[in-house]
Amino acid sequence: MLEPILRASNITRTFGNGRKSVSALKGINMTIQKNSLVILKGRSGSGKTTLMNILGGLDTPTEGTITFLGQDLAKLSQKETDEFRKKHIGFIFQAFALLPMMSATENVEFGLRIAEKPPKEWDERVTEALEWVGLSKRAKHRPSELSGGEQQRVAIARAIANRPSLILADEPTAELDSKRTLQIMRLFRSLVDEQDMTIILTTHDPSVLQLADHIFELKDGQLLDSEVVS
Ligand SMILES: Nc1ncnc2c1ncn2[C@@H]1O[C@H](COP(=O)(O)OP(=O)(O)OP(=O)(O)O)[C@@H](O)[C@H]1O
Ligand SMILES: [Mg+2]
Repeated sequence: MLEPILRASNITRTFGNGRKSVSALKGINMTIQKNSLVILKGRSGSGKTTLMNILGGLDTPTEGTITFLGQDLAKLSQKETDEFRKKHIGFIFQAFALLPMMSATENVEFGLRIAEKPPKEWDERVTEALEWVGLSKRAKHRPSELSGGEQQRVAIARAIANRPSLILADEPTAELDSKRTLQIMRLFRSLVDEQDMTIILTTHDPSVLQLADHIFELKDGQLLDSEVVS
């Protein structure tokens, strides 16, 4: 049976005010089903990052509500939102946000520390996550010693090591060539099908659309009709 994990109702987001204000989102309604792989597409500036930040509780909508696992995020205090996010959501940011002084292993481990996973599980989870993204051989390297695509894969490993219920990934394959992109998309597909995760990702790459269960398209802050891929 289809069960929603996340629902956005009448979301707007306006930055600034007066004549310089920007309406980045103009009334978004969307429902994300549990255990689905969802793609959010749209031109640069259409509002994808803004929407992802709001879906994950990193930013607050100007109007509208986000319900995640039945919980209205607006009803939580800042501290409760942070706790909720740590427990349930993994982010892969458009800029990877890796810590420069830490190796790949330490970056992934740091994610587990933040999420307050038991330290005895760290080693196994880090090893597994780096293996999933094909980076076992680069585990000891720091971000500056890794290529852009490798750094992107460390960021992916950091998010999946926590086994969150929801992963929000903003252009997770932007730095990857077509072969790696397909590998990461297949990994996402298996995390959804076998590890009980739900993944929402943004992309500009039309070649990956066929692996999604659902595609939403944003245009100038509004959702066009969504497609269900069969
Ligand atoms: N903090 C901010 N202050 C003012 N305007 C902003 C802010 N963040 C985003 N915007 C504007 O909101 C709109 C949507 O931006 P957003 O980053 O969500 O686009 P995007 O779809 O993610 O684009 P890209 O594909 O280039 O990453 C843009 O017009 C952008 O300039
Ligand atoms: Mg963006």
